Amino acid sequence: MRSLRPVPDPSTATGAAGPDPGGAGTGPAGAAPLVVTRDPDLLDQVGRLAAAAGTSPAVTGEPAQALRRWTRAPLVLLGADLVGEMAVLGPPRRPRVHVVSTRVVPDDLFRLALAVGAADVSDLPASAGWLTELLTDLGEARVRPARVVGVVGGSGGAGATTLACALGQGAARRGTTLVVDTDPAGPGLDRVLGLEGVDGIRWDALGRTTGRLSARSLRDAVPRRNGLGVLTWAPGAVDLVAPFAAREALSAARRGHETVVVDLPRVLGPVPEEAVAHCDLILVVVVPTVPGLSSAARVCARLADPGRVRLVVRGGADAALVRRAVGAPVLAAMGDQRGLDEAVDLGLGPVRSHRGVLGRTAAGLLDRLELLGEAA
Ligand SMILES: Nc1ncnc2c1ncn2[C@@H]1O[C@H](COP(=O)(O)OP(=O)(O)O)[C@@H](O)[C@H]1O
Ligand SMILES: [Mg+2]
Repeated sequence: MRSLRPVPDPSTATGAAGPDPGGAGTGPAGAAPLVVTRDPDLLDQVGRLAAAAGTSPAVTGEPAQALRRWTRAPLVLLGADLVGEMAVLGPPRRPRVHVVSTRVVPDDLFRLALAVGAADVSDLPASAGWLTELLTDLGEARVRPARVVGVVGGSGGAGATTLACALGQGAARRGTTLVVDTDPAGPGLDRVLGLEGVDGIRWDALGRTTGRLSARSLRDAVPRRNGLGVLTWAPGAVDLVAPFAAREALSAARRGHETVVVDLPRVLGPVPEEAVAHCDLILVVVVPTVPGLSSAARVCARLADPGRVRLVVRGGADAALVRRAVGAPVLAAMGDQRGLDEAVDLGLGPVRSHRGVLGRTAAGLLDRLELLGEAA
């Protein structure tokens, strides 16, 4: 078991044994999480959780020293014993400050926690699982969160769900991927991808969570085969997902995968809207008929931030005309995929062969998505 490392005190450190400027822990920027406490019991409990999470925090019992590391640490765990002293120093606002208490709870703990800009206050040992996940996330935080692509049909039955699943299958060949179903009226993406028989959690289980969800627990919990996971509704479930749960799930999905594909319904509710906010790119599948184009134009108009919206046209059509009619650039056009329904019925997903129409279209779109990520 690893023990907590005390922060070297700059006033006493000399020469080569001088202060460690970044902390040698496992945070994304090479910085260790910071633990600020003098409570030996708290230190002991946090130490065990950190060891379980495979990280070694920097520890200080000196608020002035904590202040110097305050903004640089990827995460701050502030003991309830020092929250008052820290509040007096007025540390700069930053995300990911969590007040942790054992039995030393000042009367005005919540007011002081607010004063230091803490996100929450939690008790040990009751919150041990949650804190371990928080520390585990740090160890595995990706340098770059997942690229997120949303897919929405320009009109009913345009092929959005099919394309979302095809993108998921293509992306899974490149890295860990999650396809997220935000359309409760859809067919259930696990069924389309042939994952309906695979154990794992669905929205109904996540919809009840109220705490923070770690990237790893989401990635490991959803039905998954090889690199491709799916987050969808259980068959027959009509549970609505709370926007909070959706936000947590999408943020954990983004931290824990290389690519996240979201199947969006045409009429956005709170959950799809939450998802849209996470998208780097939104693909609208357009059927190039008069009703198809006018319906797609309305779908596009409802999506905020038109800069992220691109069209995928089903079948051949004049790209300039489609662009003018719908009001967004065309990224790809694709013919019909032969044997689609049969492939889905066999549990193979829409992409039976990556050389087929859908497989090639998905690969081209993913290339574009990657370029977009590099340009960002
Ligand atoms: N690329 C495609 N090639 C051939 N048929 C397709 C394609 N995409 C969708 N379809 C057909 O259209 C139906 C509806 O597709 P779906 O993806 O569920 O549309 P949406 O999600 O936009 O409502 C599918 O069951 C399939 O038969
Ligand atoms: Mg659909």
